[in-house]
Amino acid sequence: MNPRVAPVPEGLSAPGASDAAFAAMLATEELPAGTMRRVTRGDVDVLLVNTPDGVVAVDDRCPHMSAPLSLGTLDGCIVACPLHEGRFDLCSGFPVQMPTTGGLDPDGVYHPTWSPAGREGKVDPPGLKAEARRLTRFRRFRYYPVRIVDGQIEVALPV
Ligand code: FES
Repeated sequence: MNPRVAPVPEGLSAPGASDAAFAAMLATEELPAGTMRRVTRGDVDVLLVNTPDGVVAVDDRCPHMSAPLSLGTLDGCIVACPLHEGRFDLCSGFPVQMPTTGGLDPDGVYHPTWSPAGREGKVDPPGLKAEARRLTRFRRFRYYPVRIVDGQIEVALPV
């Protein structure tokens, strides 16, 4: 049975995606429920994810500092980044856990650095790097339209 396609969260379509042509990315059997795959077209790395809400396509770049989320872990709709413990909800586009570096959330609200339980807190000496972390704002995901045709997952990628 073909997987469903998840609705794109309101206001989070990738710029230019609504006019883009669909292209086949992956056969549906290559993306079982609960899995994610990176597929590259040109210089765009796309993360295809089969969530409980259906298949979504976003950039394979963490909305924080661009690490490949395909190397992270997936739990339902929640993808965990391999770099700074950031966790993001692919079904809503919203963060669910700030990166350990702290910084600005998508609304521009500052969050301090933090350490996972059982780990020493990091000293963050003042200076340019600390300032860069403090002012790094991560954004919500931008979604590419997805459709399923003849057993293929197709994605509309702006050129
Ligand atoms: S790059 Fe993903 S949480 Fe920092």
